[in-house]
This record gives sequence, C-alpha cells and structure tokens, in this order.
Amino acid sequence: MKNLIILNHPIVQRDVTLLRDKKTPSNQFRSILRRVSALMAFEVTAALPLRTVTVTTPLARTKGKVLARPVVLVPILRAGLGLVGGFVEILPDARVGHIGLYRDEQSLKPVDYYFKVPKNIREAVVFLLDPMLATGGSAAAALTYLKNHGAKTLVCVTLVAAPEGVRQVHKIHPEVKIYTCALDKRLNSRGYILPGLGDAGDRIFGTE
Ligand code: PRP
Ligand code: URA
Repeated sequence: MKNLIILNHPIVQRDVTLLRDKKTPSNQFRSILRRVSALMAFEVTAALPLRTVTVTTPLARTKGKVLARPVVLVPILRAGLGLVGGFVEILPDARVGHIGLYRDEQSLKPVDYYFKVPKNIREAVVFLLDPMLATGGSAAAALTYLKNHGAKTLVCVTLVAAPEGVRQVHKIHPEVKIYTCALDKRLNSRGYILPGLGDAGDRIFGTE
C-alpha cells in the first residue's frame, strides 16, 4: 500500500504484543503505550528537515542542526492522548492541538465535540495521533478539519490499522503518509479491528 509505512522495530513489535494481550491491565497499558509512542516518534520524525545554526561549545564555535519547521501534535480524543507523552519526550518544543471525536456505535460515523489547534499549524509539520485506525472515518474527518484550518504537511500516526481504514483515509487524503506498527486483518461486524487490541480508550482509561 502506497504511503503506508509499518514500524517494524523489534522493541516496537514486542510492545504491540504486550498491548494486544487482554491480561495487560490499564496501568501497564498506559506505561507501555507511552514507551512505544516515544519509539514511534523517533521513527516518524526521521525525515524532518533540518537547518544549520552556529553553536558555541565551552571550547569553540561550530555548526549544528536544528529542526527547520515547527512541529504540531494533534491527538484525537480520547485514545490519542495515550500517545502524547511519548511524542513530547522526543519533541519537547511541539505545540499540541486537540480534536474531540467519538464513533457513533450504530453508524460507526465520527461525531465531533471539540477542536483546538495552535496558530502555527500552517507552517508546521502536523502529526495526527490516534492508536486505532479502524473504518478510517475519524482520521479522515480529523485530516479534513486540519486542512481546512490551514495545515499543509500532515502525517497520520497509528499503533494498529485495519486495511479498510488505510483505504478510506487514502481515498480522501492520498498524499498523507500513514505510519502504523501493525496492519491487521480486518474489521469485525461492530467496526473493531481484528485481532486488534480492543477499545483503546477504554483500555487506557480503565472505562471498560
Ligand atoms: C476510537 C479510536 C479512534 C476511532 C477509530 O475512538 O481511538 O479515534 O475509534 O475508529 P474509526 O477509524 O472507525 O473512526 P472512539 O470513537 O472509541 O472514542 P474514544 O477514544 O473516546 O473511546
Ligand atoms: N476503536 C478502538 O479503540 N478499537 C478498535 O478496534 C476500533 C476502534
């Protein structure tokens, strides 16, 4: 699949297995998600542009590199919040926007309830964060919203994706790169990813 990148690092894959395990309780789920999201952040930022600056060490002046563009992180509430801690560890200067969406249980369509994004979204590289890409309705709606608010460079970061969701996002936003740690088999009749890891929001926040 074009513009789909699978993060195959062994530590990432080990952590995805721990997150899939139904015996992993909420407290462990949260800390594993934080760790794996930092590793994901490291991988998905590999192509960020740099610019050269002068830096003075205790001994001499030399050239160094800094990120050429600002970075904005946008988690989709609720489950996307689970990825923010790891991302800001790697990107401490990132600004953070929020998009509140939940899936209607019958129609599986996203229902929006909150939007707040930083002003520098136009010039920033924007990482949309959500652990689950199922039907793709939530991610596609969030990307449309971000484009309508001026975002030009968008990257979608997920932990587990279904082929249906990747196809749906790329039908509407073909240029957006999707990073995921696992491309699973399919959706079940209730729109859950198989094998997946269950309801990510419930597992993070202990609301199941
Ligand atoms: C989950 C998940 C995604 C969405 C994915 O959120 O975090 O946002 O479902 O499904 P889709 O690809 O079919 O749109 P949910 O709606 O359960 O809300 P929550 O995070 O508040 O629990
Ligand atoms: N949302 C989740 O949290 N899990 C799924 O499998 C699908 C949507």
